[in-house]
Amino acid sequence: MNLTKYDKIITANWKMNGSLALIDEFHEYFSQNYHINNLGNNMLIICPPFPYLQSSKSKFSKFHNLFIGSQDCSPINNLSITGDVSSDMISDIECDFVILGHSERRILYNENNEIISKKIHNAFKKKLNVIACIGESENERKNSKTYDIINDQINNTLINDCNISNTIIAYEPIWAIGTGIKPEIKEIEKMMKYIHEILNKKYNLSHNKRFKLLYGGSVNPDNSKEILKSNLIDGVLVGGASLSPDKLIKIINYNN
Ligand code: PGA
Repeated sequence: MNLTKYDKIITANWKMNGSLALIDEFHEYFSQNYHINNLGNNMLIICPPFPYLQSSKSKFSKFHNLFIGSQDCSPINNLSITGDVSSDMISDIECDFVILGHSERRILYNENNEIISKKIHNAFKKKLNVIACIGESENERKNSKTYDIINDQINNTLINDCNISNTIIAYEPIWAIGTGIKPEIKEIEKMMKYIHEILNKKYNLSHNKRFKLLYGGSVNPDNSKEILKSNLIDGVLVGGASLSPDKLIKIINYNN
Protein backbone atom coordinates (compact mmCIF):
# COMPACT_ATOMS: atom_id res chain seq x y z
CA MET A 1 0.00 0.00 0.00
CA ASN A 2 1.28 3.46 -0.77
CA LEU A 3 1.20 4.84 2.77
CA THR A 4 2.93 8.03 1.74
CA LYS A 5 -0.14 9.32 -0.12
CA TYR A 6 -2.02 9.67 3.19
CA ASP A 7 -1.68 12.65 5.44
CA LYS A 8 -2.31 11.65 9.08
CA ILE A 9 -2.76 8.02 10.16
CA ILE A 10 -4.99 7.39 13.16
CA THR A 11 -4.78 3.85 14.49
CA ALA A 12 -7.23 2.40 17.00
CA ASN A 13 -5.71 -0.39 19.08
CA TRP A 14 -8.59 -2.11 20.84
CA LYS A 15 -6.24 -4.52 22.66
CA MET A 16 -8.23 -7.31 24.39
CA ASN A 17 -11.46 -5.29 24.34
CA GLY A 18 -14.50 -5.25 22.14
CA SER A 19 -17.51 -7.36 21.27
CA LEU A 20 -19.99 -7.77 18.44
CA ALA A 21 -22.13 -5.22 20.29
CA LEU A 22 -19.27 -2.67 20.23
CA ILE A 23 -18.80 -3.20 16.49
CA ASP A 24 -22.53 -2.52 16.01
CA GLU A 25 -22.27 0.59 18.19
CA PHE A 26 -19.35 1.87 16.10
CA HIS A 27 -21.18 1.08 12.88
CA GLU A 28 -24.24 2.99 13.97
CA TYR A 29 -22.27 5.98 15.25
CA PHE A 30 -19.98 6.09 12.20
CA SER A 31 -22.96 5.90 9.81
CA GLN A 32 -24.13 9.21 11.29
CA ASN A 33 -20.86 10.92 12.14
CA TYR A 34 -18.03 9.65 9.94
CA HIS A 35 -17.81 12.09 7.06
CA ILE A 36 -15.43 12.01 4.11
CA ASN A 37 -14.88 15.74 4.49
CA ASN A 38 -13.64 15.36 8.02
CA LEU A 39 -11.39 12.45 7.26
CA GLY A 40 -10.04 14.07 4.08
CA ASN A 41 -6.74 12.57 3.11
CA ASN A 42 -6.20 10.97 6.49
CA MET A 43 -6.47 7.27 7.20
CA LEU A 44 -8.14 5.38 10.03
CA ILE A 45 -7.00 1.87 10.92
CA ILE A 46 -9.06 -0.13 13.43
CA CYS A 47 -7.33 -3.09 15.10
CA PRO A 48 -9.77 -5.32 17.00
CA PRO A 49 -8.90 -8.69 18.58
CA PHE A 50 -8.68 -11.67 16.16
CA PRO A 51 -12.25 -13.00 16.65
CA TYR A 52 -13.68 -9.63 15.58
CA LEU A 53 -11.52 -8.96 12.53
CA GLN A 54 -13.91 -10.41 10.02
CA SER A 55 -17.06 -8.70 11.25
CA SER A 56 -15.15 -5.42 11.61
CA LYS A 57 -13.95 -5.83 8.04
CA SER A 58 -17.44 -6.41 6.70
CA LYS A 59 -19.05 -3.61 8.75
CA PHE A 60 -16.37 -0.90 8.39
CA SER A 61 -14.91 -1.36 4.90
CA LYS A 62 -17.51 0.91 3.33
CA PHE A 63 -16.21 3.92 5.25
CA HIS A 64 -13.78 6.22 3.42
CA ASN A 65 -10.07 5.50 4.06
CA LEU A 66 -10.89 3.05 6.86
CA PHE A 67 -8.76 -0.09 7.08
CA ILE A 68 -8.65 -3.08 9.42
CA GLY A 69 -5.55 -4.46 11.12
CA SER A 70 -4.79 -7.29 13.51
CA GLN A 71 -2.79 -6.83 16.72
CA ASP A 72 -0.32 -9.63 16.11
CA CYS A 73 0.65 -12.55 13.88
CA SER A 74 2.68 -15.70 14.40
CA PRO A 75 6.46 -15.62 13.81
CA ILE A 76 6.25 -19.23 12.58
CA ASN A 77 4.67 -20.68 9.44
CA ASN A 78 3.52 -24.10 8.36
CA LEU A 79 3.63 -25.79 11.73
CA SER A 80 1.00 -27.09 14.08
CA ILE A 81 0.93 -24.45 16.81
CA THR A 82 -2.10 -24.41 19.03
CA GLY A 83 -3.44 -20.92 19.53
CA ASP A 84 -1.33 -19.07 16.95
CA VAL A 85 -2.75 -17.03 14.07
CA SER A 86 -0.71 -16.79 10.88
CA SER A 87 -0.27 -13.86 8.51
CA ASP A 88 -1.86 -16.10 5.83
CA MET A 89 -5.09 -16.13 7.83
CA ILE A 90 -5.05 -12.39 8.46
CA SER A 91 -4.50 -11.75 4.78
CA ASP A 92 -7.12 -14.37 3.83
CA ILE A 93 -9.81 -12.25 5.50
CA GLU A 94 -8.42 -9.20 3.68
CA CYS A 95 -6.99 -7.23 6.54
CA ASP A 96 -4.37 -4.72 5.46
CA PHE A 97 -2.33 -4.10 8.60
CA VAL A 98 -0.76 -5.82 11.58
CA ILE A 99 0.57 -4.20 14.77
CA LEU A 100 3.86 -5.84 15.79
CA GLY A 101 6.26 -5.35 18.67
CA HIS A 102 3.79 -3.71 21.04
CA SER A 103 5.37 -3.31 24.48
CA GLU A 104 2.60 -5.35 26.10
CA ARG A 105 3.64 -8.32 23.99
CA ARG A 106 7.35 -7.63 24.48
CA ILE A 107 6.87 -7.59 28.26
CA LEU A 108 4.12 -10.17 28.88
CA TYR A 109 5.17 -12.71 26.25
CA ASN A 110 8.92 -12.03 26.21
CA GLU A 111 8.87 -11.08 22.55
CA ASN A 112 12.35 -9.91 21.65
CA ASN A 113 13.64 -8.10 18.57
CA GLU A 114 14.39 -11.40 16.83
CA ILE A 115 10.85 -12.75 17.24
CA ILE A 116 9.38 -9.45 16.11
CA SER A 117 11.61 -9.47 13.00
CA LYS A 118 10.29 -12.92 12.12
CA LYS A 119 6.73 -11.68 12.49
CA ILE A 120 7.49 -8.71 10.22
CA HIS A 121 8.96 -11.10 7.68
CA ASN A 122 5.82 -13.26 7.76
CA ALA A 123 3.57 -10.21 7.50
CA PHE A 124 5.34 -9.07 4.33
CA LYS A 125 5.10 -12.55 2.82
CA LYS A 126 1.37 -11.98 2.77
CA LYS A 127 1.62 -8.33 1.75
CA LEU A 128 0.36 -7.05 5.08
CA ASN A 129 1.50 -3.57 6.09
CA VAL A 130 3.25 -3.38 9.45
CA ILE A 131 2.79 -0.96 12.32
CA ALA A 132 6.02 -1.55 14.26
CA CYS A 133 6.01 -0.32 17.87
CA ILE A 134 9.09 0.93 19.67
CA GLY A 135 9.55 2.71 22.98
CA GLU A 136 11.51 2.87 26.22
CA SER A 137 10.44 1.91 29.73
CA GLU A 138 10.34 4.30 32.67
CA ASN A 139 13.56 2.81 34.06
CA GLU A 140 15.37 3.10 30.76
CA ARG A 141 14.28 6.72 30.55
CA LYS A 142 15.43 7.44 34.10
CA ASN A 143 18.81 5.91 33.30
CA SER A 144 19.17 8.00 30.11
CA LYS A 145 18.94 4.88 27.92
CA THR A 146 16.05 6.08 25.74
CA TYR A 147 18.10 6.82 22.62
CA ASP A 148 20.05 3.58 22.85
CA ILE A 149 16.89 1.54 23.24
CA ILE A 150 15.19 3.21 20.28
CA ASN A 151 18.29 2.74 18.17
CA ASP A 152 18.52 -0.93 19.15
CA GLN A 153 14.83 -1.62 18.51
CA ILE A 154 14.91 -0.01 15.06
CA ASN A 155 18.13 -1.62 13.95
CA ASN A 156 17.40 -5.08 15.32
CA THR A 157 13.67 -5.35 14.65
CA LEU A 158 13.07 -3.75 11.28
CA ILE A 159 14.14 -5.95 8.38
CA ASN A 160 15.61 -4.97 5.00
CA ASP A 161 12.23 -5.40 3.31
CA CYS A 162 10.70 -2.60 5.41
CA ASN A 163 10.13 0.52 3.36
CA ILE A 164 8.13 3.76 3.52
CA SER A 165 5.18 2.14 1.71
CA ASN A 166 4.75 -0.97 3.84
CA THR A 167 5.88 0.05 7.34
CA ILE A 168 4.63 2.59 9.87
CA ILE A 169 6.66 3.18 13.03
CA ALA A 170 4.78 3.90 16.27
CA TYR A 171 6.83 5.50 19.03
CA GLU A 172 5.15 4.55 22.31
CA PRO A 173 7.04 5.34 25.53
CA ILE A 174 5.97 2.50 27.82
CA TRP A 175 5.53 4.85 30.78
CA ALA A 176 2.92 6.81 28.80
CA ILE A 177 0.75 3.83 27.84
CA GLY A 178 -2.53 3.79 29.76
CA THR A 179 -1.16 6.10 32.45
CA GLY A 180 -2.65 9.43 31.44
CA ILE A 181 0.91 10.81 31.32
CA LYS A 182 2.27 12.02 28.00
CA PRO A 183 5.60 13.56 27.02
CA GLU A 184 5.64 17.24 26.12
CA ILE A 185 5.08 17.82 22.41
CA LYS A 186 8.65 19.14 22.05
CA GLU A 187 9.96 15.89 23.52
CA ILE A 188 7.90 13.80 21.07
CA GLU A 189 9.08 15.94 18.16
CA LYS A 190 12.70 15.56 19.23
CA MET A 191 12.25 11.79 19.32
CA MET A 192 10.61 11.80 15.87
CA LYS A 193 13.64 13.64 14.45
CA TYR A 194 15.94 11.10 16.05
CA ILE A 195 13.91 8.16 14.68
CA HIS A 196 14.03 9.68 11.17
CA GLU A 197 17.79 10.05 11.47
CA ILE A 198 18.24 6.37 12.29
CA LEU A 199 15.80 5.24 9.60
CA ASN A 200 17.38 7.46 6.95
CA LYS A 201 20.75 5.98 7.74
CA LYS A 202 19.52 2.37 7.90
CA TYR A 203 17.59 2.58 4.63
CA ASN A 204 19.75 5.14 2.89
CA LEU A 205 16.79 7.42 2.24
CA SER A 206 16.92 10.73 0.44
CA HIS A 207 15.50 13.78 2.21
CA ASN A 208 12.05 13.71 0.58
CA LYS A 209 11.46 10.07 1.54
CA ARG A 210 10.20 9.55 5.07
CA PHE A 211 8.67 6.72 7.02
CA LYS A 212 5.32 7.53 8.63
CA LEU A 213 5.87 8.00 12.37
CA LEU A 214 3.04 7.79 14.90
CA TYR A 215 2.99 8.72 18.56
CA GLY A 216 1.16 6.46 21.06
CA GLY A 217 0.55 6.63 24.81
CA SER A 218 -2.45 8.22 26.57
CA VAL A 219 -3.74 9.93 23.42
CA ASN A 220 -7.23 11.36 23.87
CA PRO A 221 -9.48 13.92 22.13
CA ASP A 222 -8.00 16.74 24.24
CA ASN A 223 -4.30 16.16 23.62
CA SER A 224 -4.56 14.74 20.09
CA LYS A 225 -5.07 18.13 18.40
CA GLU A 226 -1.64 19.38 19.33
CA ILE A 227 -0.02 16.08 18.33
CA LEU A 228 -1.80 15.79 14.99
CA LYS A 229 -1.10 19.39 14.05
CA SER A 230 2.66 18.87 14.37
CA ASN A 231 4.43 18.53 11.02
CA LEU A 232 6.85 16.09 12.60
CA ILE A 233 4.20 13.60 13.74
CA ASP A 234 2.26 11.63 11.10
CA GLY A 235 -0.43 10.24 13.33
CA VAL A 236 -1.39 8.55 16.56
CA LEU A 237 -1.81 5.05 17.96
CA VAL A 238 -4.73 5.19 20.37
CA GLY A 239 -5.60 2.54 22.96
CA GLY A 240 -8.20 3.33 25.63
CA ALA A 241 -9.82 6.30 23.89
CA SER A 242 -10.30 4.29 20.69
CA LEU A 243 -12.99 2.16 22.35
CA SER A 244 -15.42 5.05 22.20
CA PRO A 245 -16.73 5.93 18.72
CA ASP A 246 -17.39 9.47 19.89
CA LYS A 247 -13.82 9.97 21.15
CA LEU A 248 -12.36 8.41 18.01
CA ILE A 249 -14.39 10.74 15.77
CA LYS A 250 -13.25 13.71 17.90
CA ILE A 251 -9.63 12.63 17.37
CA ILE A 252 -10.18 12.32 13.61
CA ASN A 253 -11.75 15.78 13.52
CA TYR A 254 -8.65 17.37 15.02
CA ASN A 255 -8.82 20.24 12.56
CA ASN A 256 -12.24 21.48 13.67
P1 PGA B 1 -3.33 4.06 25.49
O1 PGA B 1 -2.65 2.83 24.72
O2 PGA B 1 -3.82 5.04 24.43
O3 PGA B 1 -4.47 3.45 26.26
O4 PGA B 1 -2.29 4.68 26.35
C1 PGA B 1 -1.84 3.04 23.60
C2 PGA B 1 -1.25 1.74 23.11
O5 PGA B 1 -0.84 0.91 23.93
O6 PGA B 1 -1.19 1.48 21.90
